[in-house]
Amino acid sequence: MCGIVGYIGEDQAAPILLDGLEKLEYRGYDSAGIAVFDGKEIEIKKAKGRLKVLEELTHDGANMPGSVGIGHTRWATHGEPSDINAHPQYNKDKTIAVVHNGIIENYQKIKDKLTAKGYSFISETDTESVAQLLDYYYQGNPLEAIIKVMLRIEGSYSLGIMFADHPDRVYAARKDSPLIAGIASDGSYIASDVTAILKHTRDVYYIDNQEIACLSKDSISFFNIDGEPVEKESKHIDWDANAAEKGGYEHFMLKEMYEQPKTVRDTLSPRIRKDHVVIDDLGMSNEDIRNIRRLHIVACGSAYHTGVTARYVYEGMARIPVDVDVASEFRYRDPILDSRDLVIIISQSGETADTLAALRLAKKKGIPTLAIVNVVGSSIAREADSVMYTWAGPEIAVATTKAYSAQLICHYLLAIRFAKARGEINDDQEKAYIADLEKLPDQIEMLLNNKNRIQKFANRYVGAKDIFFIGRGIDYAISLEGSLKLKEISYIHSEAYPAGELKHGTISLIEDQTLVTAIATQKDLYPKTVSNIVEVRTRGAFVLAVTNEGDTDMEENADYVIYIPQTNRYFTNSLAIIPLQLFAYYVAVGKGCDVDKPRNLAKSVTVE
Ligand code: F6R
Repeated sequence: MCGIVGYIGEDQAAPILLDGLEKLEYRGYDSAGIAVFDGKEIEIKKAKGRLKVLEELTHDGANMPGSVGIGHTRWATHGEPSDINAHPQYNKDKTIAVVHNGIIENYQKIKDKLTAKGYSFISETDTESVAQLLDYYYQGNPLEAIIKVMLRIEGSYSLGIMFADHPDRVYAARKDSPLIAGIASDGSYIASDVTAILKHTRDVYYIDNQEIACLSKDSISFFNIDGEPVEKESKHIDWDANAAEKGGYEHFMLKEMYEQPKTVRDTLSPRIRKDHVVIDDLGMSNEDIRNIRRLHIVACGSAYHTGVTARYVYEGMARIPVDVDVASEFRYRDPILDSRDLVIIISQSGETADTLAALRLAKKKGIPTLAIVNVVGSSIAREADSVMYTWAGPEIAVATTKAYSAQLICHYLLAIRFAKARGEINDDQEKAYIADLEKLPDQIEMLLNNKNRIQKFANRYVGAKDIFFIGRGIDYAISLEGSLKLKEISYIHSEAYPAGELKHGTISLIEDQTLVTAIATQKDLYPKTVSNIVEVRTRGAFVLAVTNEGDTDMEENADYVIYIPQTNRYFTNSLAIIPLQLFAYYVAVGKGCDVDKPRNLAKSVTVE
C-alpha cells in the first residue's frame, strides 16, 4: 500500500522523509520518491525498487537541501512500477508536487479534458491528473485550488501537496484514505500512517474525510471542503512502533481482514458507472464476449477457490460453460482448448510458478487470456493479453483475506458484464445486481464488528483435531476457503466436502463432538443441506451453521448459528467467508500460532 510522509520545519527535510518512508516499508511498495523545496524550486528524486536506491540517489538526503518536503512509497495501481510513475508527480511547470494514496476513478476523463487544453502527461498514473488539475485551477491561492480539485475528482485519496510559490506551507487533503498530521518541537508532519512520525510526536490529528490541512513549521490549520476553518483535537497514540505498523491490530492478518470493506469498495466502485458495469481494462467488445465458447479458470490455493465460486456465477448469470482447474493440474493435463475460449488466470502475487506456466501454455496455444491480478507489473500481469487489477494493496500476512475478497468482486463484475453483453440480463437486472454489490462493504463491516461471538466460539476449538466444512454449490466453494484458512494458520486437520458427498466414505471420520461447519446460503439447496446436517448430527457432530438472516428454522437443526445479511445468491461468498476467516484467525491465535507466518509457507510460491 502506498505511504505518504511530509515535513516542514527547522531541520533538513530529506533525511526525515527518508526515515519516515523506511518506517512505512512494511506496507509493501515498488518505488519511492521525495520532493524538497531547495530555496528556489521544488526538486524531485524518485526511483523504482527498494528505498535503498533512493537513499543512494540522494546520498541519504544530503544532496537535497531544504526544510520542506513530501515523500512517498508507491504500490502501483495505474501504470507499472517505474521511475516515471513513482511519486511525487509534478504539474507541467514543476511548480506543484503531489504525492497520493488511493485511486482517482475519473482520472482518464480529467486527463482527456486537460490534454484537449494543451496539457501533456508524462506518466501513466492517476496522480499526475491531480497535479495537472491543481495547475489548471491554481491562481495563487492553494486552498482554493485544492478545494476545486477535490470537488472534481472521484474516488479515494490522501494527498500531500507543495506549491513552489508557497514554500512555507505543506498541504494535505483526504477522502476515504487515511492521513494524519502532527506537530513536534522541530516542525510539522503529515503521514498516511502513525508509524512514520511516531518518533517525532505521539499527539496526532486525524484529518477527516474531505478535509484539508495546511502545515507551517509551527502550526497546523484545518479546513472543510467549503474552505471554512475546522477546530480539531489531537489524539495521543499509546501504541508501540510494532503495534502501530499493524494499525493497532495484533496481526497483519487481522488488519487485512478489517481492510476488506475498503478493498471491496476500491475494486468495485471504479467499475460502476451510472448503474452499469464498465471494465475499462477488459479490452473486449460485446461481440468478443458473445463469441466466448467456454471459460477456463486457472489458479492456485485461495485464488483457485474464488474460481470455484465464479464457476457458479458465470454459468448461472451469463450461461457460459466454465472449467475450473488448479494450475498445477491444468498445465500437465494437456487441456482441450479452443481459440474461441477465454482463459482466466487468477493470482494475488502475479508470480506463482504453476499459474504463470498455465498462462504461458494457454498463450502458446493461441487462446485469449485475461488475468485477475493484484500486483501491478508482475509477470502474470505483463504476459496476459488483458489484466483486471484487484487493487487490494499489498498483503503482508501469508494467509490471503482481502485479495481473496477482491478477486471475488472482479468475478462478479465480469459475470455481470458478460451476462449483459450476451443478453442474459437486462438493464434492470444489472442495476439490481449493482445495488447488491454496493451493499457488500457495509455488510462485511457489520460482520467484522460482530467478531466477539465468533471469537468466543473459536476459543472452544483450539484443541480440536479435525474440523469439517460442508456446503453445496457456492456454499461448497466457501467451505473450501474456510477449511484452507483454518488449516493454514492453525495447523488443525480440516476437510471441505460437497455436503452430499460426505456420506460416500468420509462421514466415518465424524465422531462425537466433531465440529462440522455447514454453510447454507443457497436457498434452493437449503433443505438438502439440512438433511446433511441431520445426518452428521446423528453421528454426534456439533454443527455450526452459517446461513442467511431470516432463515430461522436453522436454529432447530444446528447447534450454533451465525447469520449473514441477505444478498443476491451469487454474492453470498463475500459475506459468509468473513466469519470463517475470523474463526480460523481466533482458533490459531488461541493455539498460540504465528498467524502472520504459518510454517512452511511463503507468500508467493515461485519455485517449480
Ligand atoms: C492461502 C494463500 C494461497 C494463495 C496461493 C496462490 O491463504 O494465500 O493459497 O492463494 O498460493 O497465490 P497467488 O494468488 O499469489 O497466485
